[in-house]
Amino acid sequence: MRVGLFDSGIGGLTVLKRLLEKYPQNDYIYYGDNLNVPYGNKSITELLVLADNNIKFLLSHNVDIIIIACGTISSTCFKKIKNNYEVPIYDIINPTITFLNKSNYHNILVMATKRTIDSHIFKKHVNKLVYELATPELATLIENNNLKEIDKVLKKYLDKYINKVDALVLGCTHYPIIASNIKSILPSTKIIDMSEELKLENNGHSERTIYFKKIDDKIIKNIKKVLNNDSIIIQRVD
Ligand code: DGL
Repeated sequence: MRVGLFDSGIGGLTVLKRLLEKYPQNDYIYYGDNLNVPYGNKSITELLVLADNNIKFLLSHNVDIIIIACGTISSTCFKKIKNNYEVPIYDIINPTITFLNKSNYHNILVMATKRTIDSHIFKKHVNKLVYELATPELATLIENNNLKEIDKVLKKYLDKYINKVDALVLGCTHYPIIASNIKSILPSTKIIDMSEELKLENNGHSERTIYFKKIDDKIIKNIKKVLNNDSIIIQRVD
């Protein structure tokens, strides 16, 4: 199966990494729209246009299915666009909502971009006590690998949740990259990565190509760091 994934930048690579581990035989085409990062503060009208461009790019690479490896597009656009294309489109949030409703977690903190938090998607659909936390600057700090600032920002946001929540959802696909920084502030809280709940088939030729709109040394370093893999082909989109 040829699986297409997209995100605003390196965040969706955390989803790709998980799928490569669990379903290594599929072919994967990843598209990082990093000229437009961050998505999390954009209007829904803008996000619909970006989602459509990204999906059309992946369709031109003959994918069989598309996974929206982006919490922001999943929470704001998925319902509106899911039936508009000739291949099945999957979002990253609904499988986690199903998981949370069946889980034994009762006090759940969802940390995500402003647009995802404004959608209240978890609060509306999860049958537990849900705290919502928008962390609008984090995706850009992660893209820039600004670790010192990331720790400062995390402390500012998370200190008040110590001993208050039993689970924390990484509601933006950039956040698994800093999961250990989050864990060090909330050591007794279960950290939930949404990609864990995705289920796929596993058949193909194990081809992988990663496309980014802008390629420079920083992005190559980031891709290698997130995927922990040197053999993936990285290409720029013209
Ligand atoms: N990684 C994306 C998400 O899951 C986008 C973050 C951003 O670009 O603001 O929301």
